[in-house]
Amino acid sequence: MPSPAPPPAFRILFVCLGNICRSPLAEAVFRHLVEREGLGSRFVVDSAGTGGWHVGEPPDARSAHTAQRRGIEVRGSARKVGEDDFDSFDLIVAMDTSNLRDLEAMIARTGGSVTPRLLREFDDEDDGGADGATDVPDPYYGGPQGFEDVFDIVFRSCCGLLAELRTELGC
Ligand code: 4NP
Repeated sequence: MPSPAPPPAFRILFVCLGNICRSPLAEAVFRHLVEREGLGSRFVVDSAGTGGWHVGEPPDARSAHTAQRRGIEVRGSARKVGEDDFDSFDLIVAMDTSNLRDLEAMIARTGGSVTPRLLREFDDEDDGGADGATDVPDPYYGGPQGFEDVFDIVFRSCCGLLAELRTELGC
């Protein structure tokens, strides 16, 4: 008897503004977590930006170094979100509410089957208060502590996201 076909991989796209600081970090952290849990074949992970200014550039060195110190490699080159992404990913995860609004406007214009969500929905320390806790803050114009804070938020939220997906997907 041939063994049953493996379930298709779940496809997840992380999105920020420039695709050089937050979303490549989320991509790397989420991939690190799924591989650590032996689920590498169950997920396809990618990232993109709503803006095109940095297309083709590597991840921001500050983001990459912060992750590297914690044992996670951030790689890839920036790309812009495209119409095809709205049909080819099972889940799109935005870093902040501005990214989410931009994605919703694009999907309303072009069509697509996916409903984007916010990464911090999955942050178990998110108190949902008025202090911006629904967003992964944009660290680009700030100092080094901002990148440390972003790493912690992204790591916590990706742990929560993976736990929820494992329940949903039964894996
Ligand atoms: P990201 O950060 O959206 O997390 O990649 C930014 C990168 C570049 C710019 C803004 C935010 N920018 O204005 O060029």
